[in-house]
Amino acid sequence: MKNYTNINDLDNLQETVQEAVVLKKEPLQFEQLGKGKTICLLFFNNSLRTRLSTQKAAQNLGLNTVVMNFGAEGWQLEYEDGTIMNQNKAEHVKEAAQVISQYCDIIAIRAFASLEDKQKDLREEVLTNFQKYASVPIVNMESSVGHPLQALADAITLEEFKVNHKPKVVLSRAPHPKALPHAVANSFIEMMQLQDADFVITHPEGYDLSADIVKDSKVEYNQKKAFENADFIYTKNWSSFIVYGKVLKTDNEWMITADKMKLTNNAKFMHCLPVRRNVVVSDEVLDSENSLVIEQSNNRTFAAQIVLKKILEDRDVF
Ligand code: CP
Repeated sequence: MKNYTNINDLDNLQETVQEAVVLKKEPLQFEQLGKGKTICLLFFNNSLRTRLSTQKAAQNLGLNTVVMNFGAEGWQLEYEDGTIMNQNKAEHVKEAAQVISQYCDIIAIRAFASLEDKQKDLREEVLTNFQKYASVPIVNMESSVGHPLQALADAITLEEFKVNHKPKVVLSRAPHPKALPHAVANSFIEMMQLQDADFVITHPEGYDLSADIVKDSKVEYNQKKAFENADFIYTKNWSSFIVYGKVLKTDNEWMITADKMKLTNNAKFMHCLPVRRNVVVSDEVLDSENSLVIEQSNNRTFAAQIVLKKILEDRDVF
């Protein structure tokens, strides 16, 4: 695999999940694979899980890791061609991507959506320009449109905890005071479209995600109806995609509560974290034995590790 910018970069999701489950049992079995090679992790935005789990995954494969908080410490980058750079942007991505490629063998990037300019966010300016000008593989650690490492970790978690061959999985929007990006929900949907599952997306009207992502996945505007007989409830917040980047309502009607979970088939609760307690989900649900959030975070390491392993094993790259 040359790059990992989308879950569809994997040749086969099911096989990759099985490989990750095996890798999880003995994470150091490929520690010679990355010996003498370096990965640069570039963060344009904050992180806890992505930063630590990707670093841990790289370490398990013997890679050296360089981390840069680009948003806080790097030069502000220009992405447009032909710009007269006489304002606050000191360096063009053309040079930056080529320079960073000289220092490392893989570049991983986190660059969230601005939620101000829809077309610019959909172009994935940072990720696509690094991919265009870098000479090494690129890994997406959450871009403006997707978070495929999270989606792969979620697929591993679903595999580990599913009881039915074809579980009912519900993606539910929950309230949040801040406008949040669509990336986690987008990648979760793309991942679920590769699964043999009864998959339902539920959210209030006005929070419809991009039709290019949702495609023919089922959408149900009645949360309680969607929850009936669910085996997994995956919760995430996102701002409106239609009234781009806006929070339309701030009430807690869509919060995940124990009463709503009673409508399900004793469903497991999932969230990518970080999560706001008693805003997105009640303490009772988050602290229950059905909550998988800590194991989802654990699986971030093995999702990242299987992706880096596939890149390191690509003979056309190395
Ligand atoms: N889930 C996730 O990506 O967590 P961080 O934002 O802390 O990396």
